[in-house]
Amino acid sequence: MKTILVTGANGQLGSELKKLSKNVKFDFVFTDVDELDITDILACAAFFDNVRPDFVINCAAYTAVDKAESEKRIVWKINVDAVKNLVISCSLHGSYLIQISTDYVFDGKSSVPYVERDLVAPQSEYGKSKAAAELEALTCPKSLVIRTSWLYSTFGNNFVKTMIRMGQQREALNVVFDQIGTPTYAEDLASAILEIVGKIDSDEKKFAGGLFHYSNEGVCSWYDFACAIMKLCGSKCRIYPIETSDYPTPAKRPKYGVLNKAKIKSTYEIDINHWYSSLEKMIDALNRVETL
Ligand SMILES: NC(=O)c1ccc[n+]([C@@H]2O[C@H](COP(=O)([O-])OP(=O)(O)OC[C@H]3O[C@@H](n4cnc5c(N)ncnc54)[C@H](OP(=O)(O)O)[C@@H]3O)[C@@H](O)[C@H]2O)c1
Repeated sequence: MKTILVTGANGQLGSELKKLSKNVKFDFVFTDVDELDITDILACAAFFDNVRPDFVINCAAYTAVDKAESEKRIVWKINVDAVKNLVISCSLHGSYLIQISTDYVFDGKSSVPYVERDLVAPQSEYGKSKAAAELEALTCPKSLVIRTSWLYSTFGNNFVKTMIRMGQQREALNVVFDQIGTPTYAEDLASAILEIVGKIDSDEKKFAGGLFHYSNEGVCSWYDFACAIMKLCGSKCRIYPIETSDYPTPAKRPKYGVLNKAKIKSTYEIDINHWYSSLEKMIDALNRVETL
């Protein structure tokens, strides 16, 4: 049986992969920084010699977008240097590397969904480091870079869980309506990644490397997303639309980060859910956990 190494496995995407791994016929090795610090090149080499993974799904990253502006050294160490370490080990062992990236590699000046060949122009330190990581990952002979956007999960901290919590505490909230993108349920992304791995495993000729875009279907603003969250939770909290200029943050975010997913859908024959139905599913899952 083939072995899949998941790094950063305690994060949102890693936890979703762990949840889904029970239904998939692979040997999984889940690691987070305590088991395998991917910034440590010697630790990576020793780990690969021992585990000999056929596939590596790198879910490890520095993802605190605003804090990243003042912690550049550590951001680049985790998001770029560590990817170099994985590339070296994957290249040596002939492993497939699946690296996750972000719509924050774009400047957000487009008004039509971004395709993979569009030029990157990151506006934040996080975005710059993820763009550099893409280039590193693509030097690996068998690599796939999947850009995604607005990731949320029942695991970890994210916009959905913050809105639900604040909706219980406040009567009203202001949310920006001039940043447009697509929310992505990490469970859907995890499922798509496992589907791709399964297809490559069943027939290596199905492998197509390079850049791919994956988010849920549809488009919304953070304001629309917040309204949907409150509606699905039955919250009475009112949401007011505000402009980005009224909510300044240390990191600049793209005004428009919608990803065109035609390439991943046609290459790997992936079906993608609409963001609203996936949000419904996630909130149902949260409610089930809370009532246990
Ligand atoms: N979150 C989003 O909205 C979003 C959007 C687009 C793309 N992405 C990308 O999607 C991927 C998954 O994101 P996510 O939201 O699942 O991230 P996450 O929840 O922040 O998880 C990242 C995990 O990596 C771990 N980690 C940090 N440094 C490490 C190291 N040196 N070695 C091993 N593990 C380390 C973190 O541990 P600690 O928590 O202890 O630091 C955490 O468990 C990332 O590549 C991210 O850039 C995320």
